[in-house]
This record gives sequence, structure tokens and C-alpha cells, in this order.
Amino acid sequence: MEKSFEVASFLKGNEVDTLLQFYDLLPKTLNEGIDKKAYTTGFDLDQIPVKNFNSRLKSIFGDFKVTVSMFLEEFEPWAVHTDYFKEDSNPYYAVLIPLDHQDKDTHTVIFNELGDKKDWRDTLTSTSGYNYTTEQSALLGHIDTSMLEKLTLYKTHKWRKGDLIAWHRNLLHASDDFSDVGLKRKIALVIFLNRDD
Ligand SMILES: [Fe+2]
Repeated sequence: MEKSFEVASFLKGNEVDTLLQFYDLLPKTLNEGIDKKAYTTGFDLDQIPVKNFNSRLKSIFGDFKVTVSMFLEEFEPWAVHTDYFKEDSNPYYAVLIPLDHQDKDTHTVIFNELGDKKDWRDTLTSTSGYNYTTEQSALLGHIDTSMLEKLTLYKTHKWRKGDLIAWHRNLLHASDDFSDVGLKRKIALVIFLNRDD
């Protein structure tokens, strides 16, 4: 499996609608820890109102367990971060399924550098020498250049409703600067997988 990849049309259009209606009925949980306003509303994945959801995931990822399943509703673009530290011992993939981005152009950006150590910020070398294209720089306008120059971009994954985007949880990643395209909030289903014993 590639370290990040997409699966087109993982969910059908009506399944996306059903999930948004399901999310609408949940009491929202304000995200703590990150200073950007967001809701990260957890729920029991066994209750997901989508047929064969788990077996569809298994056909892509093989055996796994679920550490976190939640609806992510972001109002401001998140900077570079890791999803590695979620109180499991063998982090596997992060799964993101876009549900609502108002048909605007937005992406999840994956870097090659790892965030599998608590002090990952200190372990990045001074300059990576990576040359960002004009387009890539525009997507990353909300991120400090001092951080960007230490990273190398692996892939940008464009959001399309119902597609599945996955990256290994050891990889640093970020939202793009979606405020730049006039997008005020975006919603995705996010699942952190593990391969604990
Ligand atoms: Fe993340």
C-alpha cells in the first residue's frame, strides 16, 4: 500500500447525505488541543448508517482496529501536524472521507517527513531544499515558511465528496488554506486505524 492514496467513490451520493443527516443529530464536540476552531465529534463506528462500511474498509486495509471515529468539521485550516499519538501502540492509516466542502477546491496535503516522535518539530533538518510550485505555495499560505522549508511535499489529495483519502499515521500533513477559496467550513468523516495486538 502506498503511504497515501485515494479511493474514488468509496461512498455513494445517498450515503454521503445519510451520514450528514446522522451527524446533524449528534451533539457536537468542540475540539481541544488545537487552537483552530473545529468540531471533532466522536461516535461508535458500529452505529454508522452505511451498509457494509466495515467490510468495505477491510477490503482496502486488511485487518485493523479503530482507535477513533469522528466527524471533523473545520472552520479554519489546520497547520502541519501528526495524527500519530492517539493512545494506541501500533498506529496504522488515517482515513478521511469528504462529506461537505460546498463544491469548493480544497485538499489534504501530505508531507514525506514523519511525526512519529513527540519532538518531531526538533528533529526536522534545517532546510529540505524542496521547491514548492506556485500552486502548492498558494495551498499552504497559512503555514509558516520556516516550517515549509524543512518539509518535502509528498501528495496533495483533492477533496471529492464520497472519495476516501488515506495516509499512514506517521506522516506529517495539513489542510490546505481553504479560506483562500471562500470556503467557510468543511466536514469529513475521519477514522484513525491501528494494528494493535
Ligand atoms: Fe490530521
